[in-house]
Amino acid sequence: MAFGRFSDDGREFLITDVRTPSPWINYLENGRYFATISANGGGISYDRSPLHGRITRYRINDVPPDRPGKYIYVKDRDSGEVWSLTWQPVGREPASAYRAAHGFGYTRAEAEVEGIASSVVFLVPPEDDREIWKAVLTNRTKRPRRLAVVGYVELALGHALVDLINQCDDQHFNRAHFEKGLDAVFATKTYWVTETRGTQHQENKEWDRWAFFTVNRPVAAYETVRERFIGPFRNEANPIALESGLSSKDMDCGNAVAALEVDLELGPGESADVIFSLGVIAKPDFERTKGEIVRKYRDPASVEAALGRVREGWDRFLGHARAATPDPEADIFLNFWIPYQAKVAFDVGRVASFYYWGIGRGFGYRDTAQDTIAIVIADPERARARVGLLARQMRRDGKVYHHFYGDGEGEFTEHCDDPLWFILAVTEYIKETGDHGLLAAKEPFLDGGEGTILEHLMAVVRFAGANLGAHGLPKFGRGDWNDTLDYIGGKDGGESVWGAMFYAAMLGRLTELLDVAKAGGQGVEARALRDRLVEALEKHAWDGDWYIRAFGEAGRKIGSKENAAGRIFVNTQSWAVIAGLPDRARLVRAMDSLAEHLDTPYGPKICAPAFREIDPKIGLITRCVRGKKENGAVFCHPAAWVIQAECLLGRGDRAFAYFRKMLPGRIAQETFCAEPYVYSQYITSDEHETAGKASHSWQTGTAAWMYRVGYDDILGLRPSYQGLVVDPVIPAAWKGFKAERVFRGARYLVEVENPDGVARGVVSIHVDGRPVEGPIAPRPAGSVCRVSVKMGKAA
Ligand code: GLC
Repeated sequence: MAFGRFSDDGREFLITDVRTPSPWINYLENGRYFATISANGGGISYDRSPLHGRITRYRINDVPPDRPGKYIYVKDRDSGEVWSLTWQPVGREPASAYRAAHGFGYTRAEAEVEGIASSVVFLVPPEDDREIWKAVLTNRTKRPRRLAVVGYVELALGHALVDLINQCDDQHFNRAHFEKGLDAVFATKTYWVTETRGTQHQENKEWDRWAFFTVNRPVAAYETVRERFIGPFRNEANPIALESGLSSKDMDCGNAVAALEVDLELGPGESADVIFSLGVIAKPDFERTKGEIVRKYRDPASVEAALGRVREGWDRFLGHARAATPDPEADIFLNFWIPYQAKVAFDVGRVASFYYWGIGRGFGYRDTAQDTIAIVIADPERARARVGLLARQMRRDGKVYHHFYGDGEGEFTEHCDDPLWFILAVTEYIKETGDHGLLAAKEPFLDGGEGTILEHLMAVVRFAGANLGAHGLPKFGRGDWNDTLDYIGGKDGGESVWGAMFYAAMLGRLTELLDVAKAGGQGVEARALRDRLVEALEKHAWDGDWYIRAFGEAGRKIGSKENAAGRIFVNTQSWAVIAGLPDRARLVRAMDSLAEHLDTPYGPKICAPAFREIDPKIGLITRCVRGKKENGAVFCHPAAWVIQAECLLGRGDRAFAYFRKMLPGRIAQETFCAEPYVYSQYITSDEHETAGKASHSWQTGTAAWMYRVGYDDILGLRPSYQGLVVDPVIPAAWKGFKAERVFRGARYLVEVENPDGVARGVVSIHVDGRPVEGPIAPRPAGSVCRVSVKMGKAA
């Protein structure tokens, strides 16, 4: 049973049955204004921060889920029939009268109910801090129809957590009023808590925004208070205002909403548009700018033009890397949905989704660093700005905030990996752009003073060097990439084997950069440290068939064949390869063990067998039910590293088999549950009865890594300091493929032929017809070049 599929060109996901097993959402955003929207109209809206600038409410953990949202009700003023233009919240049967489509930066909801056909497009224009809901209603009956159309949102107005935990007091500061001349409701809160966790200290502030909700037709009636709109013992499915009328009263106190009714008369076959707009206006400019802002986007042509700009923006972004492989399904993801998700995750900062409520945590340091490697291809300026932001979360000793809320506020934890991710972001930025000037750019340290990016990198090296334990491996602290290995080693403090591989990989990247930047002298310490880590790993971490995961208390091994649970972990096999450990026989054995013990029809598991007993000297992972999350699920993000490692070993068939298996949508939609067009954080493994069920969709680093691994390692178009490397690792059965990659201002049109059916091995490269020595395509004279690549056995 399927709820949806891709359009033929792959650019839209069409939801043909809106009764999806979980809310299937999309993001509408311009980097400042954010809205989520499900196929059923549910979702949130916020201005810049989902914590501090929450515009609308979304009831978390409620039944039914996915409420409220961006709702348009219709009432037939003759028959009294009421429905909504998305299936929910009214839920009129049959649901089959409804359809939805998610595209890049827009969502469309279509219906035909009571002879009225409707199509609503939801979008956020690139240049304005608002969302637009453009509805077209068509009378498909032979009689004239009199309709009331009511747009409705429930407002949070500021701090989302305070709204949740202190509503009883907070509601006394909500203000909402209607302005007739503008056909708009304006709402704000005259009190604003800005501290992250809320506070007892009463800040002397008001929310710095006015929210507005407006429509392009004369308003017949309006509402500002939820209780008056919904009525007692009711909910969004059957609001009393749709029966007895909207009160047209400003807010006195309570839960703020904005509801606007317009009345339409439609002759047979006639259509009319109704355009609602929800947005924010900065307070200092409010009186001066409100008229112009509110009246913008009142005619359909201006909305169409905005939609055109949304499409152009996405075409530009997605046009930086293109693939035409023998696998059309993979192409849809490589061309569109993987980079789309990666960009959204970068913009959203992984904090807000159906699963993440945008109230609990700030930007993760490691998450943000990883998100940057996807954005840098098409948007190097924003990547550079993120590198600066990451640098500003660092102390002079190299320690960084584990998560942060922007400049100045964050939380230190004892994770051993966080600072090293900075190296990943910096090196990928410079490889992509050739902008070595970044190293000399200055950024402040959290504990005073400033330093160049190079000095920040060297601080990271000092952090790494100072954080080693008894076996010469990183002290585990409260976790590494895996946040749930948080109490390894009890009081002793265990050591992270993955951490050592990760340190080695990052230090290797850094020394390569320093050599290229002719700052090799600075790299002496980093190189020596890397060598020591590699030596320690080879001496202590090999378990016979794979690498162990950690040392716990008194030298106890975790992730070893000595253990009953958690015998083998995925990351210490893939990263052994990524870190470039020297013993190829061990690497091959490790990856084969991974395939043997961890791979499943749903993808490779994070570890196996899952823990069944709580072990306070390992941590949270053992407290989690088995087969889910870090306790033995198919965690999607590390699967990307498995693919990368197989590519590094040159095993193209295996690499692509993993890549293909991990594509969202490979599992039956009813089982998978989450959106089949984006990656989820994890897929439940065969150790749980809901095997195959995915959760935590959208906000995962999987997309960023799959984007890079797909293009860099499988298609093999990889940025290096010297230029674009061409080194595909593909299924041997592929006769070839085509790809495009924009790199340092030039578009490389790549055509690969593989007549001998090899998985790896380039025998010749021609650029614009001229042969090239070595694997690097030189920088072309023009802005476009043709790269012809022949793979074969002679290599
Ligand atoms: C979550 C976190 C990420 C972490 C992973 C594994 O996805 O966002 O930072 O690495 O879990 O614990």
